[in-house]
Amino acid sequence: MRTVRISLKERSYNIVIGNSILNLLGKFITRLDIGTSAYIVSNRKIKNIHAKALTKVFSRAGLEFTYRLIADTEESKSVEVAFRLINELARFDKARRVFIIAFGGGVVGDVAGFLASIYKRGIPYIQVPTTLLAQVDSAIGGKTAVDLIQGKNLVGAFYQPRLVYSDTRLLRTLGIRQLRCGLAEVVKYGIIRDRNLFNYLEKNYPRILALKEEALEFIVARASYIKAKVVEKDERETKGIRVILNFGHTIGHAIEAASGYKGYHHGEAIALGMLVAVRISSKLNFLNRGVGERIEHLIRVLGLPTKIKKLSLESIIKAHYRDKKFIGPKNRFVLIEGLGRTKIVENIDLAVIKEAIASRIA
Ligand SMILES: NC(=O)c1ccc[n+]([C@@H]2O[C@H](COP(=O)([O-])OP(=O)(O)OC[C@H]3O[C@@H](n4cnc5c(N)ncnc54)[C@H](O)[C@@H]3O)[C@@H](O)[C@H]2O)c1
Ligand SMILES: [Zn+2]
Repeated sequence: MRTVRISLKERSYNIVIGNSILNLLGKFITRLDIGTSAYIVSNRKIKNIHAKALTKVFSRAGLEFTYRLIADTEESKSVEVAFRLINELARFDKARRVFIIAFGGGVVGDVAGFLASIYKRGIPYIQVPTTLLAQVDSAIGGKTAVDLIQGKNLVGAFYQPRLVYSDTRLLRTLGIRQLRCGLAEVVKYGIIRDRNLFNYLEKNYPRILALKEEALEFIVARASYIKAKVVEKDERETKGIRVILNFGHTIGHAIEAASGYKGYHHGEAIALGMLVAVRISSKLNFLNRGVGERIEHLIRVLGLPTKIKKLSLESIIKAHYRDKKFIGPKNRFVLIEGLGRTKIVENIDLAVIKEAIASRIA
């Protein structure tokens, strides 16, 4: 079992990572003293596969609990679903010492965190992430949100959990595509902040894809540490530091949007977006070719895409302009100067961006 501390004054908390640790969660909850009734947000699929162990935890700890299941789609991240849950939560909250558990991937985590942030102006919540993406990314850092028709994650708050509890054993039942999508974010952490993690991924990717315990635990712990350190320095994304986590996401989001959020999963689009950012970095002479080749090789052996299929350059550029991070004629990219070294660059010539995207179109 490993622990990563995220220090945010009175909002500090631990990220606990280990294999088969779910049975010990009760002790952690008792120690936190956050309440006696758990409102567990999850979905049917995750509940069917993994809830037995969790239920045992609550029964043994003498805690009252109830499961609330949301549909297994991004559409669950809506104001309507959130307010339905809030009404149910208020009915459940008789003893007035209720806390929330997010038991699922990023969708469940974002909705549950949002509920926790607004009900009674904030009640405690715990993230028990069940996807690799959620363990290394969405469960950490306190960004909670639901979507609007106008765009993703438009309604939400910065609201930190009291604990993130990542049992890597839960990842065994993930589909390979989901696993790879989480790995895209792990590769991102290596590129932006940690060349040792990048080296580790290059050496150990077969063990990771084979779900070897110690390999999973290592990458989740390392990625959690990197995200924690970035969030500590810029909790609310106001200091231009947290923005480095968007490496690969500017064009990645455009690819997701251009495919109508159907063709590519998030991690796949981010893998492609990272390759575009690498190309721009090389074109602007920030980066030597060898690093770019290593990144492409790693992305390929992890089974992530390296070529954009069935999308035109025009559709991606159009989606890129619509992105909320792209204001007027100004653009802003997270680029790299080497493994572990980022550089924020604004107003890049559109021709350079276009060439970099075109170089990835199959
Ligand atoms: N808050 C943040 O900082 C942040 C960061 C990144 C992404 N996100 C959000 O996260 C969401 C994506 O999260 P995700 O990739 O985890 O997707 P997800 O929550 O939709 O989960 C993906 C799929 O895996 C299934 N699943 C989950 N755990 C499983 C398990 N252990 N075994 C088998 N199947 C399992 C789910 O039921 C679902 O079908 C997006 O809405 C995105 O906006 C938020
Ligand atoms: Zn991402």
